[in-house]
Amino acid sequence: MELVIEGVGKKYPGRGWALSHFSLTLEPGILGLLGPNGAGKSTLMRILATLTKPSMGRVLWNGTDLAKEPDAVREVLGYLPQDFGVYPQLSALEFLDYIAAAKGLEPRAARHRIDELLELVNLTDARKRPLGGFSGGMKQRVGIAQALLNDPQLLIVDEPTAGLDPEERVRFRNLLTDLAGERIVLLSTHIVSDVESTASRIALIANGQLHANATPDALLASLQGQVWEWTVPAAQVAGAQARYLVSGMLRRGDSVQLRVVSPQSPSDDARAAAPSLEDAYLQLLQASRATAAA
Ligand SMILES: Nc1ncnc2c1ncn2[C@@H]1O[C@H](COP(=O)(O)OP(=O)(O)OP(=O)(O)O)[C@@H](O)[C@H]1O
Ligand SMILES: [Mg+2]
Repeated sequence: MELVIEGVGKKYPGRGWALSHFSLTLEPGILGLLGPNGAGKSTLMRILATLTKPSMGRVLWNGTDLAKEPDAVREVLGYLPQDFGVYPQLSALEFLDYIAAAKGLEPRAARHRIDELLELVNLTDARKRPLGGFSGGMKQRVGIAQALLNDPQLLIVDEPTAGLDPEERVRFRNLLTDLAGERIVLLSTHIVSDVESTASRIALIANGQLHANATPDALLASLQGQVWEWTVPAAQVAGAQARYLVSGMLRRGDSVQLRVVSPQSPSDDARAAAPSLEDAYLQLLQASRATAAA
């Protein structure tokens, strides 16, 4: 099972390239697509879901070109769009029935599958209530259920944790981990903690380009010896920020403990610290901005 993205680019009319020369191979497991607003995450996902055509390059599902045979991937695809909307008057059960029919599932099998999925996303008790009264997290769980109706081999979820509270976020993360198994799961986010514990790989996207594709451990290893904790008087914070990438700050009375990402120690008083994925993400973003500006 393999999804190969080869040199894909997308240019919207009257705009620059939203995605360019993007190449990546996806295999079973969770791939976290991490990038800031406007990076091109949704554009890439819509291309993979065959809702948008790339302007250049190609995508192959087990060797089949999506441009020539979009049905090859549509049959095995589950997709939760970023702007997933529900019909407020419908109950969860009615909504899932409706989507199952639209996907052409046989009614009896669909009913069985819907019961299973409601149980999986913990909505069995709420299944007859109108979706309009659901919380953000409950709606996202309905969204995941509809994406799973056809037991997809390729599950694409676009910023599924946006708008969820911390508890719902953790629950959703665990649900996705349970689901991963023998599927390819592609999850986009701009929040590092959404992917650091669950993703087997992280692809970092900025300005429509792929800037890293590695395991979380490899990303951390690449920063080994480059993260420092450095306590400075509050008045020196701005100066430190002008010279270094500051990835965190902790107020300590009149002084501030900075987290600095730099190949060299910023000062004799600084102590080496263990890198975090947040440090790696911020460093890659800074590097990508520098490239874009050059
Ligand atoms: N339909 C469209 N028409 C024109 N431009 C678009 C369209 N969709 C996206 N863009 C532009 O393409 C770029 C990438 O957008 P995209 O939605 O793919 O980013 P994203 O990483 O999903 O961002 P976010 O985190 O805000 O969801 C942005 O500059 C955006 O304004
Ligand atoms: Mg998006």
